[in-house]
Parts: sequence; C-alpha cells; structure tokens
Amino acid sequence: MAGALYETDREIYEAIQAEIRRQATQLELIASENFVSRAVLEAMGSVMTNKYAEGLPGKRYYGGCDFVDVAESLARERACQLFQAEHANVQPHSGAQANMAAYFALLNVGDKILGMNLSHGGHLTHGSPVNFSGRFFQVAPYGVREEDGRIDYQALRELALRERPRMIIAGASAYPRIIEFEVMAEIAREIEAFFLVDMAHIAGLVATGLHPSPLPHSDVVTTTTHKTLRGPRGGMILCREAHDKVFYKTVFPGMQGGPLMHVIAAKAVALKEAQSPEFKVYARQIVANAAALAGRLLERGFDLVSGGTDNHLLLVDLRARDLTGKDAEGALERAGMTVNKNTVPGETRSPFVTSGLRIGTPAVTTRGLKEPEMRQIGDWIGEVLNDPQNGALVERVRGEVSEMCEQYPLYEELVGVP
Ligand SMILES: Cc1ncc(COP(=O)(O)O)c(C=O)c1O
Repeated sequence: MAGALYETDREIYEAIQAEIRRQATQLELIASENFVSRAVLEAMGSVMTNKYAEGLPGKRYYGGCDFVDVAESLARERACQLFQAEHANVQPHSGAQANMAAYFALLNVGDKILGMNLSHGGHLTHGSPVNFSGRFFQVAPYGVREEDGRIDYQALRELALRERPRMIIAGASAYPRIIEFEVMAEIAREIEAFFLVDMAHIAGLVATGLHPSPLPHSDVVTTTTHKTLRGPRGGMILCREAHDKVFYKTVFPGMQGGPLMHVIAAKAVALKEAQSPEFKVYARQIVANAAALAGRLLERGFDLVSGGTDNHLLLVDLRARDLTGKDAEGALERAGMTVNKNTVPGETRSPFVTSGLRIGTPAVTTRGLKEPEMRQIGDWIGEVLNDPQNGALVERVRGEVSEMCEQYPLYEELVGVP
C-alpha cells in the first residue's frame, strides 16, 4: 500500500505533506485543536471506512458487522468508564450533530431553550439565529458579567424563572473558567427544565478530574472527541438510562445514516488513551500551561477576560489597545503562532473583526511544551502585538518560533513518506 496516494493523486499527496509541514513548523494555539496519536490516525485510515453499519452493535441493518461491532462496543464501554456515564452513543459525526440529536430527543420544534450567548463564549449550536438551534427553537441567551467576565448565575436564574425554557444548555467555546454545573442544574430543576451540558471543549479535563464532571447533574451530556480529549473529529452523547433509547433514535434514523465506523474505531482508541495515567499528566500540563501563558501575558500588561484562566484557554481583550482581533491574529500567524480572533463580552465589532483573541494550550502541550516555553510564547505574543506592523520583528520571532518547533518535532515519521 505504501505510496498509493503518491501514485494516484499527487495534488492531494502534496497538500497533505504541506499540512504536515504547517502543523510541525507553527505553534498551534487554537483552543479547539489538538494532535492525535499515530494509533488514532491509523484507526481512522483503516478499512472500517468501507463498512455500512446502520443500527447499533448486535442490532444492525446490514450483515458483516461483527468486527465494526467490536470497535463500537469498545468505544461505548470506554466512554462510559471514562466519564462514569450509563450510556454512550458514539455515532454522531460531529459535536453539532450530537447537539442536534440531543435537542430533538428532548424538545419539540418551537420549544424554548436557554443557551450561552455566542458573543459571550457560547457555541453556534446553543441558539444562534444562523444555526438550526436558533431557527427551530425559541432562544433566550444568557451571558457573562461585563465586569468580571464570569457567568452571572443569578441573572441566569432570573432569566430562567422569567422565560421558563424547556431546556437549559451549559457549555461554551470560549469560556476560561470552571462552569458551575451544580448551580445550573439546580436552576433547571427549579423550573422543571431539562439540563444539557455540552462539554466539547473541556472533555479531556473532565475525563481526568481537572474540571468538575457534568454527569451527576445533567440529563444529557454532549461532546466532541477532538479537542482536549485528543481523538478524531467527531461527536458523542452520554446519558442516563432513562433517555438512552431516545438518543439512539434521534441520531439514527433521525438525523444520520450509516455511522463512520473508521472514526468510531479511532474514538475507541482515543478513549483508551484517555484512560491512561499519561493522559492525566497531559491534562494537568494543559491547565498549567494555560496558567503560565496567562500569567506572562498579564505581566506584560494584557487584559484577559475574567482576569485569567482555570482551564485550557484564555481570552485576550484587546480593547485597550489600538488593535483588532483580526489584525492580531494575522500578525501572530505571520510570526508562526496560530490563534483565532474572538468576540469579547460587550463586543462592538463584527465577528469577522472582533476585539479579542482566543488562545489555547491543548495542542502545544501534546507537543511537549511546558511552562518555560509558554512564558516564552507569552513574550513573543507580547512583542508582536505591541508592534504588529514591524516586519523585521515579526520575522525574527518567526525564526525563534521555528527553532522551538524543531526542538519538539511532530509527525516526523510522516514527512516525505511517498
Ligand atoms: C462547545 C461546542 N459545542 C459543539 C461544537 C461543535 O463541534 P463540531 O465542530 O464537531 O460540530 C463546538 C466546536 O467548536 C464547541 O466548541
């Protein structure tokens, strides 16, 4: 098989090689990205992609499912062990689809949901008008306090009592602090609403006890598998006994056809890796690295939303500087550091411009970087953002970033494989 892609499709081969080089020679600081292991990559690139397996292990609509059943059963068992869940559906193709299936299981079109405001750190699928969630459901968004950037649980309770939603959604794409699931569950109980937690960003931290688990407090938990959990791109639903049948139906046949069995096999591998003692050390380092980076940026005079971080990400508020999120992202990219522009609470600029940056540590931590390197990265970010138009400075930092990347090689064995 070696060399088949090179022989068949030189353009795609070259694009993949260029992407390997890009990942290896830049510092990946996008909070939702990570680098999967070779074992995960291998499972994803396997013949399980060929198999149709509509249904569930042992109850399929197709023959020949014995071995994909092994993969899916292992993925489900491991997910339940890791998160102490009673049921796991590992079939959603993505986090957005996990959310869609969960909403359709618990809600009717037109019901009201309470989700975190996108511009305060929520996700599109938590009620944005441009997403199915905002089109099929009525939405009452909650947010963070402008003074301290933290979720205002008191305001959330008042909103819930006033709006009486059928479901409250916890979880975020850009929230640097611990989320108080217990407090939110209590509010949901008070108004007899369902409580869904989308732990996509923090799943790896929950798995290792570095963020409180939502499982004891929620009716259903959704997640992606590719962020801090460090698995293949995909989604997953965890739930209690009472709801399991409903989720099976809304994923398939409700929303999807055949599950991606190669991805499910890779999810199983990632879930096994996440059970290891090494993964716990890794997750601890993610958080320590975010704290070290936040500390250095604060020392250099940057404003951080909420003043710091408890998890894997931080949000830089650039409003005090004459710099947009878009321009800051561009300058850092030229210097070899990939981050993304992000809205900040009270944002006045468009989502294409923004006044903030979201910076995360899961990927660089996988690479082996620790606190000293994070402080160095904080210095580079500071230098570049203080003088983003200075081409010579950006070039110098780019060179230093490259040297650091060389010390922490990535996917070396995949470079130039014909
Ligand atoms: C909190 C949250 N939920 C859901 C998703 C959607 O995941 P996917 O991109 O796999 O659809 C994301 C992705 O960024 C997310 O941050």
